[in-house]
Amino acid sequence: MNYEQVAELEKQKLVPTYDRLPFLAVRGEGCYLYDDKGNKYLDFLGGLGVNALGYAHPEILAALRDPSENLLHVSNLIYHRFQAPLAAKLTALTGLDRAFFANTGTEAVEGAMKLARAYGRNHSPERVEILAVENSFHGRTLGALSATWPEKYRKPFEPLTPGVKFVRQNDITHLDGNFSPRVAALLLEVIQGEGGVVELDEKFLKAGQELCRTHGALLICDEIQCGLGRTGKYFAFERFDLHPDMVLMAKPLAGGLPLAAILAREEVAQAFHPGMHGTTFGGGPLQCRLALKFLEILERPEFLKHVREVGAYFRTRLLKLQEELPVIQQVRGQGLMLAAELAVPGKEAVRQGLEAGFLFNCTQERVLRFLPPLIIERQHVDQLIAALRPILASISTMQNKGVHA
Ligand SMILES: Cc1ncc(COP(=O)(O)O)c(C=O)c1O
Repeated sequence: MNYEQVAELEKQKLVPTYDRLPFLAVRGEGCYLYDDKGNKYLDFLGGLGVNALGYAHPEILAALRDPSENLLHVSNLIYHRFQAPLAAKLTALTGLDRAFFANTGTEAVEGAMKLARAYGRNHSPERVEILAVENSFHGRTLGALSATWPEKYRKPFEPLTPGVKFVRQNDITHLDGNFSPRVAALLLEVIQGEGGVVELDEKFLKAGQELCRTHGALLICDEIQCGLGRTGKYFAFERFDLHPDMVLMAKPLAGGLPLAAILAREEVAQAFHPGMHGTTFGGGPLQCRLALKFLEILERPEFLKHVREVGAYFRTRLLKLQEELPVIQQVRGQGLMLAAELAVPGKEAVRQGLEAGFLFNCTQERVLRFLPPLIIERQHVDQLIAALRPILASISTMQNKGVHA
């Protein structure tokens, strides 16, 4: 089937939840994705942060196709050889003690909210509230959705999980005012991804940690988008010397297959007993095996250094572009989680970018977000910047002339 046939069939047969880009992906290699017409796209979207090693990474493919391994699934009633070593690796990386494996980011958030309540209840029957931060995104199942800020995501599905309150971003007074012995956890993204790559202040984060300690609440860092090497560190919280009680990760963990993890401090993890939480697929042998390979690559001495260097270069190039083009209002982010906030809607830039052979997306209407594979090189950044210059110049001209972008 070609693009037109697939698009037509999807229009008739799929629940209309996605607004897809107009091309049919058929193959990928390194930082490039190819369509059925032979066009190639330099990918700064990275499967929404999943394809950290790009497409068809030879070592991930070799692990996937290892002829000596044939277990795809055994269920969590049976031991296999890969879950425990993966848990050991992730506990070492996070400084936490135990892991629970799920499949998606939203599921990790759900599990963390349950664990926080179970732990809180062990101390006081009242300790059930979850504090989340305005502008956050934690997923779309009913619990995780309760902690997700944009009303457009929440409103149609109310009533949601009670006991979740939002605190204002970087507003320590508001945070303090919302803390009480009823708070079981403060859930936050150190860098808010879907919210437009917005970094929370160090002071706010540290105050949050301090308030959690004072009130016996848990600090949960949702590192689903900003973790696992994305910012040039294993986890974004490391930059501020935070010590979360739980860390959540997903996206790139299994090299492209669904796998998520909740990492927790010993005392916290012990609030779950057998039967209190579980999932059929979470932590299956194939995913865990690929995750071990992904982490082996991530831990190579040069890997994160490369992310930091290319990320810094990319950021500098965006800042230079901002000097040339006032339509860029702000450049934000760390490592290879970067964004350019525009003065105009970004949809047209995404469309023109695609036409020019570049993939990136737009969040929050006006924020161009870049989550490229962590293996991109400076030359790829140069190519993107060269393409963005005329695109952004043209959309700001369209805007000035009153043409609706
Ligand atoms: C910070 C954060 N938390 C949770 C989620 C939900 O993850 P998933 O889409 O894998 O359920 C996302 C997804 O983008 C995310 O960015």
